Amino acid sequence: MTLQGAKQLIKQWTDSDHRWITVPVTIAALFVLFVLFKSCQGIAYSFTNECRIYRLGYPIDQARTLAAVLSDEQADSFVVRGEYDSIAYPLLSERYFIAKNFDRYLAYHKIDTTLTALNDIVAVVNVGHDLDREASAVPCDISKGQLMLVNGRHYLDENYKPDSLVAFQRTYCYEEQRALGAVVQAFLTMQQECKKQTDAHLMVNSAYRSYKQQIGTYKRNEKGYAARPGGSEHQTGLAIDVTSLQHPMRWSFDTSKEGVWMREHCHEYGFILRYPKKHAQVMGYNYEPWHLRYVGKETAKRVHDEDITFDEYYAYYIENPHAKALR
Ligand code: DAL
Ligand code: ZN
Repeated sequence: MTLQGAKQLIKQWTDSDHRWITVPVTIAALFVLFVLFKSCQGIAYSFTNECRIYRLGYPIDQARTLAAVLSDEQADSFVVRGEYDSIAYPLLSERYFIAKNFDRYLAYHKIDTTLTALNDIVAVVNVGHDLDREASAVPCDISKGQLMLVNGRHYLDENYKPDSLVAFQRTYCYEEQRALGAVVQAFLTMQQECKKQTDAHLMVNSAYRSYKQQIGTYKRNEKGYAARPGGSEHQTGLAIDVTSLQHPMRWSFDTSKEGVWMREHCHEYGFILRYPKKHAQVMGYNYEPWHLRYVGKETAKRVHDEDITFDEYYAYYIENPHAKALR
């Protein structure tokens, strides 16, 4: 119908003697249309993730937020489980929450009843300690350079060897030790300052170890204090074990003036204490006050300031799909 035609029709209606009928009929028709439209909207809404989650018993604002954060697939399995979980919504506010791990956080919370703090659950899952180690093991991504992650689940090939290793001056080691150039340099600068502050002389007990050497170290060491071959950072040339001439024994170094100084200041030189005491229980590592890992100053500062392990840093800032926005 043309515009002209429509105008004509309206004019006929309004001029007609039955105008009094057409008005209520139009209103009724509009009302029916409105009701139909609203019903369709209601039906469509009942299929949304927000509504399906709401029906599990979550307040509407929580259901809305959960629906916005979860992928359709995650929302489906969440709804299919069909139960209200009191940690589901609080999890979203966790500092290191990673959306793709949502299901695993919920599952791990149910399995490990000893771990109740949400930040611990998030940490354990983010670093993959909830998974079977053998089944979830992946090759280490060496393209990350000084930020490569090596642990029980990220392993190095037995032939991997860093490009150019530099020897430490013999005044800083009992037998020849080598590491990447940046590591040797950072150690020298750190030990100079340590000397000034504590009068102690830092020593490198161990630095680069080949895969083969690690086989021996693994056999010789107390369980838990040596990584399996392929899983040691020492193979990267980025790790050093440090004590001092004054306190050569690892555990006396821990409480020595220089040991305490090194813990507090190593990040200023690009090192992190890779196996800190605070995280030992949650992460399942033994505390090692002597093992430093070089990651560069920027990362070392962040790991230190945020008081997280390098594994957590890697999961959140490097592997996380939203990592770029977070850095
Ligand atoms: N001591 C650490 C875990 C290593 O052997 O690499
Ligand atoms: Zn070590």
